[in-house]
Amino acid sequence: MIPNVLSIAGVDPSGGAGLLADLKAFSALGAYGTGVVAALTAQNTRGVTGVQSVPVEFITQQIDTLFADVRIDAVKLGMLGSAEVAANVAAALRRHGVRRLVVDPVMVSKSGHHLLSPDAVATLRREIIPLAEIITPNLPEAEVLLDGRPIRTLADMRAAARDLCALGPRIVMLKGGHLGGDESIDVIDDGASQVELPAARIVTKNTHGTGCTLSAAIAALLPRHAEPLDAIRAAKAYLTAAIAASGRLTVGHGHGPVHHFHGLWSRWEGTAFPPEHLPTPAPPAT
Ligand SMILES: Nc1ncnc2c1ncn2[C@@H]1O[C@H](COP(=O)(O)OP(=O)(O)OP(=O)(O)O)[C@@H](O)[C@H]1O
Ligand SMILES: [Mg+2]
Repeated sequence: MIPNVLSIAGVDPSGGAGLLADLKAFSALGAYGTGVVAALTAQNTRGVTGVQSVPVEFITQQIDTLFADVRIDAVKLGMLGSAEVAANVAAALRRHGVRRLVVDPVMVSKSGHHLLSPDAVATLRREIIPLAEIITPNLPEAEVLLDGRPIRTLADMRAAARDLCALGPRIVMLKGGHLGGDESIDVIDDGASQVELPAARIVTKNTHGTGCTLSAAIAALLPRHAEPLDAIRAAKAYLTAAIAASGRLTVGHGHGPVHHFHGLWSRWEGTAFPPEHLPTPAPPAT
């Protein structure tokens, strides 16, 4: 069965991060994408110029209306913006019995814009993170969640990943994109054991939305894998390839997006677009 996956996140009009990027990652990975708009931004590849909140009752209405009709197999949470939104989204997730939840605790954009108010961190920690199957903080976010403790080395990352487990998610994926070095290593901890996912650091400025894309990819793949770790590994491989192929896109002048459809479109290169020879779908079984 094709999974139905939901992103509750902010909109980045440049399409590299947030809800639009999540929808691309879902689609590229064989999930049917749905989305609830939790915030609006004015943004391009150079930075965020403004943020507009969505009335909290309307966020709740979007979620309730969707769940009233559509089976949702996994949810990814991104930018929530405020404590009030976070509390209401947490209540909605509990009300709808969401079990497969990937939380990307978005706090600051790659360009340095604050996307979560400080009082919302407490709500995120207390009400959202304990509901999560997987949380995917980057290093600055992990530092905030650990009350400002600096994370500067791989050893710090290992200790931080274990300590973040105490906040209540089933699995912590601590992302090492901000650590520097030749490799970009992520540390995954389920409270009992730890796994490191290394990837060669790709030299590129096209890292807009890497975090959004990764968490969306995990949500898309969770319903297709018996083990969450296998979904995480597959999502990381997808993201790394999407970063590597980002140079094929020409979007903006700052930190460009990753290439979500690197696998699909490369098969079409040199052919008519879209290809005329797409396989004809088999008629539905009667
Ligand atoms: N240059 C790179 N080469 C390879 N992998 C990278 C690179 N930069 C980031 N990654 C990987 O991308 C993923 C996202 O990590 P990162 O730490 O950049 O997240 P983030 O800061 O939340 O991103 P975002 O700005 O989208 O919120 C991680 O798996 C990280 O290892
Ligand atoms: Mg991020």
